[in-house]
Amino acid sequence: MGAAAAELHDLYLPCPRGLEQVLADELAELGSATLRIEPPQSGGVAARGTFDDVMLLNLHSRIASRVLLRAGRSRVRDADDVYSLARRLRWERWFDARSTLRIDLSAERSQLDSLQFAALRAKDGICDHFRGIGQQRPDIDRANPDVRVHLHLNADSALLYLDTSGEALFKRGWRTEHGEAPLKENLAAGLLRLAGWTPQVVLYDPLCGAGTVAIEAAQIACGVAPGAQRTFAFERLRGFDARRWRQLRAQAEARRRAPPAPLFAADIDPRMVRLAHDNAQRAGVADALSLHQGDVMDAQPPLTLAPGQAAQIVTNPPYAERIEAKGSEADAFLPRLGDVLKQRFAGWRAALLLADVHAERALRLKAARRHVVYNGAIECRLFTFELVAGRPSRKPG
Ligand SMILES: C[S@@+](CC[C@H](N)C(=O)[O-])C[C@H]1O[C@@H](n2cnc3c(N)ncnc32)[C@H](O)[C@@H]1O
Repeated sequence: MGAAAAELHDLYLPCPRGLEQVLADELAELGSATLRIEPPQSGGVAARGTFDDVMLLNLHSRIASRVLLRAGRSRVRDADDVYSLARRLRWERWFDARSTLRIDLSAERSQLDSLQFAALRAKDGICDHFRGIGQQRPDIDRANPDVRVHLHLNADSALLYLDTSGEALFKRGWRTEHGEAPLKENLAAGLLRLAGWTPQVVLYDPLCGAGTVAIEAAQIACGVAPGAQRTFAFERLRGFDARRWRQLRAQAEARRRAPPAPLFAADIDPRMVRLAHDNAQRAGVADALSLHQGDVMDAQPPLTLAPGQAAQIVTNPPYAERIEAKGSEADAFLPRLGDVLKQRFAGWRAALLLADVHAERALRLKAARRHVVYNGAIECRLFTFELVAGRPSRKPG
């Protein structure tokens, strides 16, 4: 391996809030000898790794939103300091002036007056850097840039990253239609991990919508790499090793297998069942997933469990305002769902993502674990219940 290939880069992998620890766990399991993972921070995980690791992370992380590679960092007091940082970095190492460019921006407790102006100055700094070495100014292309640079501003510093992913990693390349309120794929993958589900455990999502949770689970169970069906921004960077990339993809492809335990999903809306089926087909897991149409209130376990066989519901019920029936029927949704779980799914574990902090009271079930996770800007909780046989339902407290 050449010196450049062995070089370690500072990386940052943002993820939905609440999934930082499971992202760090996932990265540790990728089994890279060169990757060093730091303790999770709010909103992501920092790491150090080689360019090989960058490719591996993009291909295999189900929970990260992106893989950012740090180009430089400095303390800043104003937008001119952002310009100076951008101007002095050796961008030609990664791309040339003919590449089109886009600057993305994030900030946390930044003291700068205008974040947009700081981003503009970062762009000016990069363009002037190329002018300074006798090249043209790169053009900006917001829709389909060759290179994305990410500017992050915190309380006293600016960090400039190359975005090695391009489109966010939750875009796996199989979704064409969304249905109503779909979860992002990386949030679904994170929920499965938080819920403690593993491929040996039977999975059932009885409120599956577009099928995101069940399709992520099926891809995990079948050993399908989340990035197998898409391209990445790093493929357009200078020094990209196409041979090594083909090798990593081939190694990932060789891990495909039949799922060790069955996976089931259902929805009351036949259009959703069709959509989930089409999505599963595009995701290459239609054979691994049994889908049916039905009301969760009539649901029965889709199979009889063998002694010692573990089974789990992981689902994302509709928020109160989306339940078709309004008024008392909508209010009755969670209590009725709680009864279905208690009466028919004894011996199962159930993990429910809900935005209602009082959901346990409404379900009349006590959670064994609760995790706060953000579905976009919405604060939710993943409640995990151990459903034991024969427990009478409690009155709401
Ligand atoms: C919040 S969405 C689930 C979104 C899904 N996790 C996804 O990523 O696409 C809730 C789903 O529950 C379904 N639903 C509502 N009431 C139901 C019922 N009584 N039985 C089964 N499904 C129901 C809706 O049709 C909707 O697709």
